[in-house]
Amino acid sequence: MPETSVSSYNTPFHVLITGGSSGIGAALALHYARPGTHLTLWGRNPERLEDVATQVVRRGASAGILSLDLCRTDDALAALRKADDERKIDILILGAGLGDIRPEGALTETAEQVHDISLVNFTTPATLATEMASRMAVRKEGRIALVGSVAAFHDLPIATAYSGSKAGLARFSTALHAAMTPHHVSVTLISPGYVDTPMSQRLEGARPFLVSSQRAARMIARAIGQGRAHLLFPWPFAIARFLEMLVPRAIVHRLLRTAEVRQRPTH
Ligand SMILES: NC(=O)c1ccc[n+]([C@@H]2O[C@H](COP(=O)([O-])OP(=O)(O)OC[C@H]3O[C@@H](n4cnc5c(N)ncnc54)[C@H](OP(=O)(O)O)[C@@H]3O)[C@@H](O)[C@H]2O)c1
Repeated sequence: MPETSVSSYNTPFHVLITGGSSGIGAALALHYARPGTHLTLWGRNPERLEDVATQVVRRGASAGILSLDLCRTDDALAALRKADDERKIDILILGAGLGDIRPEGALTETAEQVHDISLVNFTTPATLATEMASRMAVRKEGRIALVGSVAAFHDLPIATAYSGSKAGLARFSTALHAAMTPHHVSVTLISPGYVDTPMSQRLEGARPFLVSSQRAARMIARAIGQGRAHLLFPWPFAIARFLEMLVPRAIVHRLLRTAEVRQRPTH
């Protein structure tokens, strides 16, 4: 599939980003913001959405915002259909994510945490990606990106729902890529390591090989434009993934159980 640049489409070029109010999603919104582009930004927090939209408009693009909770999959699906009916979506970036871990002192995450993480990190993005893929396949053009995590490739005892939901998303994304390639729709899985955003800033302790959200946005946009099946960054996490597969699982689990991770309350 040829590389897509904004100018290769008839204007207005429409990019819809979930998680557009913060971190990687906000950086992607600013990356794509230029005259001839319309950004639709979804998130929960209206003030943060307004703030990103203002910066987007300052760069010459137009913008619309929608505050909604992705735990409500049906509402999100209806909103996606409405957005695409009103203005054809060229790129859908499913960036929103919940990064919760086991509460301090608890043996497991709470059932409510697991429920919400599963919806926001897997059920809703997979639902939205499927709807978008079926519409784009009819049009024979379009690009979808799903933001997963390198956590998908490791059994994280303190974040079972996070690693499990991202693992499901990863397999879903590459399978959808396989299904959509003959229909000229690209589906790109993004698996970041640590990116400097409010999500990772909540974690106490080291964030090895940290990448800025601006640099992450540039790499992600390039991978989407190239229609790649998978972008994993930064590269040391690709090596960690490979090395982990060589070590017996019981040893890996023993090591992972010793990892001390704490997080501050949400922003
Ligand atoms: N930062 C990292 O180190 C890192 C590493 C690997 C993967 N990731 C993934 O990258 C993606 C973006 O994360 P980030 O680092 O940019 O984190 P962030 O700054 O905390 O942004 C998370 C975004 O998701 C939205 N969101 C969360 N729960 C939602 C819900 N229930 N309904 C609607 N929107 C919701 C947030 O909206 P509000 O702001 O309105 O609450 C926000 O826009 C996530 O999928 C995350 O798992 C991040």
